[in-house]
Amino acid sequence: MSVHSKARKVTTNTLQEMKRAGEKITMLTAYDFSLAKLVDRGGVDVILVGDSASNVMAGMDTTVPMTLDHMIYHAQCVERAVDRALIVVDMPFGSYQGNSRIALESAIRIMKESNGHAVKLEGGSEIVESIERILTAGIPVMGHLGLTPQSIYKFGTYTVRAKEDEEAEKLIDDAKLLEDAGCFAIVLEKIPAHLAKKVSEAITIPTIGIGAGLDCDGQVLVLHDMLGITTDFSPRFLRRYLDLETQISGAVEQYCSDVRSGDFPNTDESY
Ligand code: KIV
Repeated sequence: MSVHSKARKVTTNTLQEMKRAGEKITMLTAYDFSLAKLVDRGGVDVILVGDSASNVMAGMDTTVPMTLDHMIYHAQCVERAVDRALIVVDMPFGSYQGNSRIALESAIRIMKESNGHAVKLEGGSEIVESIERILTAGIPVMGHLGLTPQSIYKFGTYTVRAKEDEEAEKLIDDAKLLEDAGCFAIVLEKIPAHLAKKVSEAITIPTIGIGAGLDCDGQVLVLHDMLGITTDFSPRFLRRYLDLETQISGAVEQYCSDVRSGDFPNTDESY
């Protein structure tokens, strides 16, 4: 029998059971009520209220400007819509780095004010103290290694990470550290597939890949990218399942034309 069930609520334990059973974990982002409802109905296991909201919802160039208030607002909208998926909320830049007490306060705010189920933090050894302190409050933590977009100004680019041995070794050490600290899963972003495989085999908690190959225990994509709403972003790891940009623009054009020509509304659409 499958661990994955469309009816059962997903918990952090479900994800660990899925890894043990060799069942792939599905994760997508969502930031608002209406799309979160559809994503949950579609049967995704984890909904990430990602700080990628900064790019796809707010039109900013990086995730750096996101605040705790922004993240809590998006998480509240998503939480109202979701019945089944586990909801993980990104902790924004500046809410956890360098001070574990601030990290704990930020995570508690997210949990109390949004009703999300877990938080995600970017980084390894540099932030492990914050992770440990958040875990002491009983808040589940998802890690995030490889390309960590909140550090864009340190990396300078969004290209593939950990291609060199030294960075790859640090990434493996960091993954083990996050597992030992008590994280329930780790996102691996934009790293070579062979390294993601090695990490996934080296730890017992699930890895969720984005641009990290097939051997991760699960996959995540940004919803607006996979639905083809955002089309100016085309990394090779991205599979587009719809072309909503064309469909939505077409629908809007048709609506404008119908209004301008007097075709809409017709008598059936009037009182
Ligand atoms: O914010 C986000 O959407 C993310 C995913 C890319 C994993 O962190």
